[in-house]
Amino acid sequence: MVSPLGSDGSRTSVAQPRYEISFPDSSEIDEFDQDEEWCDVRIDGDTRRFRFHDYDEIYKVPGLYEQLFYDTLHCDSPRVVSALLVEAVEEADESVEELTVLDLGGGNGMVGEELERLGAASIVGVDVIEEAAMATERDRPGVYDDYVVADMTAMPDEARESLTERDFNCLTTVAALGFGDIPPEAFIEAYKMIDDDGWVAFNINEDFVGDSDSSGFSRLIDRALEDGTLDLQGKRRYRHRLSLAGEPIHYFALVARKRGELKHTGD
Ligand SMILES: C[S@@+](CC[C@H](N)C(=O)[O-])C[C@H]1O[C@@H](n2cnc3c(N)ncnc32)[C@H](O)[C@@H]1O
Repeated sequence: MVSPLGSDGSRTSVAQPRYEISFPDSSEIDEFDQDEEWCDVRIDGDTRRFRFHDYDEIYKVPGLYEQLFYDTLHCDSPRVVSALLVEAVEEADESVEELTVLDLGGGNGMVGEELERLGAASIVGVDVIEEAAMATERDRPGVYDDYVVADMTAMPDEARESLTERDFNCLTTVAALGFGDIPPEAFIEAYKMIDDDGWVAFNINEDFVGDSDSSGFSRLIDRALEDGTLDLQGKRRYRHRLSLAGEPIHYFALVARKRGELKHTGD
């Protein structure tokens, strides 16, 4: 079982309050799927229960997302996916400083922060919940050039036009695919906004690769890689984070170039 407190010291940019976090006991933990995990947090004398996928509630509490997922469960995905992207860009003799990034499922800005640190020219976030934009503004102001709160599959015309005008050459989606988060349709819509030959960087649970997740995302990606729509430039298996039982949850980070439009077959 993981220890509720402690820091790996990898992020120092935002001073945040620390919370007392407790987890279900070990007899319950084995039964949980990744999207069923929860914890109890002491806040101002009260104990509140948070399901890990209730991002809106978690983002409202300053520093809780960071303490829970990064310091306690050692999530490493923003760093790993961003590093793989940078490696691929440099290998292609291109420059990170020319990347104009659309960060789909930007959350409270951890990927944006990493890409800014690595030198990306411009980053725009999109997330479906208002609390993500508010937490980003509160904790990482200035990282994103713009942050749009919208459902990618039902984007208001004005927001779509302003995004299209930015001529993105890179799409990032980190820790947001599968488990009922971003559906394939939203990913396809964001992907349409990326220039031909642009970069696409994302991660996915290893159990979904070469298999079928219920959202159909792995099928979409498998086919796109097979037919050359996505031209793979880098792939890495790594520990995304620990489960509540303290076991590693492995993901694949993938970086590809866009060679055509994605087609959702719907089967
Ligand atoms: C685990 S968080 C990841 C946040 C960030 N990318 C990171 O790595 O820290 C997943 C995010 O995806 C967002 N999300 C879920 N469905 C979405 C959708 N249809 N469109 C845009 N964002 C969505 C959630 O609101 C949440 O902020």
